[in-house]
Amino acid sequence: MDQQSAQDARTAPVAVWSILEKMTPEQKVAWRIADVTGNPASKERGTEDLPFPYGWYAVCYSDELAVGQVKPMRYFARELVAWRGEDGQARVLDAYCKHLGAHMGHGGKVNGNLLECPFHAWRYDGTGSVKEIPYARVIPPQAKRSCGNWHVAEANGFVWVWYHPEGVEPMWEVERFPETESSDWAPYERYEWHVASALQFIAENTADLAHFKYVHGTATYPTAKIVFNGHLRNGLVEAKMGTPRGEVDGKIVNDSFGPGQSSVRFSGISETLLVAAITPVEKDLLHSRFAFTQPKAQMSGPMAGVAKALIKDIVKQFDQDKIIWDRQRFVERALVCDGDGPIGDFRRWYYQFYAEWKGGNKPLTAEG
Ligand code: FES
Ligand SMILES: [Fe+2]
Repeated sequence: MDQQSAQDARTAPVAVWSILEKMTPEQKVAWRIADVTGNPASKERGTEDLPFPYGWYAVCYSDELAVGQVKPMRYFARELVAWRGEDGQARVLDAYCKHLGAHMGHGGKVNGNLLECPFHAWRYDGTGSVKEIPYARVIPPQAKRSCGNWHVAEANGFVWVWYHPEGVEPMWEVERFPETESSDWAPYERYEWHVASALQFIAENTADLAHFKYVHGTATYPTAKIVFNGHLRNGLVEAKMGTPRGEVDGKIVNDSFGPGQSSVRFSGISETLLVAAITPVEKDLLHSRFAFTQPKAQMSGPMAGVAKALIKDIVKQFDQDKIIWDRQRFVERALVCDGDGPIGDFRRWYYQFYAEWKGGNKPLTAEG
């Protein structure tokens, strides 16, 4: 271990960090969600051609949608509206009213368990069917039909929706993490980023072993065992991890449940669960939420400082990656070499979620 890493392994002098190191913590928080300007257009970067992959995606934290609240949102290049009825259930619909097209996320209100449009008070249930029109004797049959509705699940303190471009019903269930329901684990510490990128770039990052050294400043190239199985991807990465006390052997268990829901469990330094939820907004814009939880006992114990530092380091890693992702271009026939890690296997697994490419011109997998 050299002197630099023995003192503080978190400050390895990687190239991208020079862009960020002078920011104050407040500036960094603002930078994470600020618009990216001056980056090449989505068309030039090939993100325009990548479909939104199907799966479960977080659209908000559960506590961001109170009973009786209506919330406008935009994901998958679509305007959406979420509300929580008096029964406590969260519901999501396409935002435009089928009467005269008002956006129900702005001025809409909850009436019982129904969503009331702000324009003429048509009231919708969670299936997108109009149940009441206060001034009409008859509800037009077409208005009664379900449409524009989203499957919603609530788990791990998030509201999730099922996205499929062809309206296929959910193909698996949202994963539930026992730590998030245990009173022995602390409430989430939350971070968020907007990334001007396609989701595939971020997902590919864990299979890209060489970048850990150059972007994140790890002392060595990590080793990884990744198993792809249906919609699941299970990875075990063993890496030297940065702590204020230098490099420590860390184990990172990284599980993906489709493209929109992941968990990362860190051990070796401190027990930490990261629930990672990244949702496409546009073809070149992602909303990324990282929610960390740790055992309460650890947070006030002798390892508290190290546990805190671990979270800080993971967040810093995302900051570092963001510099690359915001401007990265999709290379369809990735020119990979033998030390790159299982990028080809990753892509073969990931392309199953691109429904719109089935039976046709899916991009080729990486060579090598
Ligand atoms: S536009 Fe929604 S009720 Fe008329
Ligand atoms: Fe990374």
